[in-house]
Amino acid sequence: MKKVSVIGSGTMGNGIAHVFALHGFTVQLIDLNGDALKKGLATIEKNLGRQAEKNLITQEQASAALSRIQTLTEINRQNLQDTDLVVEAVSENADIKLNLFRQLDQLCPTHTILASNTSSISITRLGGVTGRAEKVIGMHFMNPVPVMKLVEVIRGYATSDETCDLVIECAKSLQKIPVAVRDYPGFVANRILMPMINEAIRALHEGVAGVIEIDEVMKLGMSHPMGPLQLADFIGLDVCHAILKVMQDGLGDQRYAPSPLLVNMVLAGKLGVKSGEGFYLHKSGSKELVPSPAFKK
Ligand code: CAA
Repeated sequence: MKKVSVIGSGTMGNGIAHVFALHGFTVQLIDLNGDALKKGLATIEKNLGRQAEKNLITQEQASAALSRIQTLTEINRQNLQDTDLVVEAVSENADIKLNLFRQLDQLCPTHTILASNTSSISITRLGGVTGRAEKVIGMHFMNPVPVMKLVEVIRGYATSDETCDLVIECAKSLQKIPVAVRDYPGFVANRILMPMINEAIRALHEGVAGVIEIDEVMKLGMSHPMGPLQLADFIGLDVCHAILKVMQDGLGDQRYAPSPLLVNMVLAGKLGVKSGEGFYLHKSGSKELVPSPAFKK
């Protein structure tokens, strides 16, 4: 695989484009929103610069990676004509993803593998709306993509061995560590992570401890780099809510129901880092952990 189209230039999409370009792939970063695309490219430039400053890569590697990324605002046959792999990273909404997969199946050459970076939506369901379910697979990167080693490779019911092998080799060529899992709601990463985050929110809601205290217990006691509430803000509370709903519905088990506090915060638009406030207040450039006034004692 040489040419990759990444669809969606948000946090995950720009991180995915970044790592593919850094490892020699020709990358098309596609987003229908031109402003989002500019922001995505600026983030890639900033993060490549950050890696160069820390001598993880050279300035030449950073510049070469940037020059391998082309930005486009249209999904059409011409733009996708030589694409070997599409990695979809649009918002975590089943209808949007299903429509996109239908469209990609019509527009991409027959050899193209269609991968989704979905956190929880069924790969089998995405494959089912295409005429190439054997070439549809999950390629679930972790945030921040340039830093995290894992790629959860999700094999849908009809995904072929050949597609799995190609995607596993591809993830290795990005210097990531692929782990293959089966297609059940939440896969493995979120099946285990989201109940922990949800339980932390329940404990906060019940007044067991405050925001800082809950996070400190998990950081200091379990060596987690971020506490579960800070991590929820980092992932996005809307994303956590959407994943828990997929697990609640797909596994038919109420224990995955999002905490009422999480539901309220999403309804109030307190989505974490992306909205400037979640369990913490987020100012760009500041690393200080300031709990939201809503949770001050
Ligand atoms: N691009 C490039 N480099 C980056 C980066 C980015 N976007 N973000 C951070 N870094 C680098 C920094 O430059 C720094 O490099 P050095 O170690 O060489 O100095 C390193 O990563 C650590 O960053 P910071 O010093 O800024 O901050 P930190 O030490 O607090 O680490 C963190 C930040 C890596 C995000 C760490 O807090 C962490 O690992 N947090 C947990 C992340 C996690 O759990 N991610 C999974 C989320 S779940 C998910 O993504 C899937 C899903 O479906 C919801």
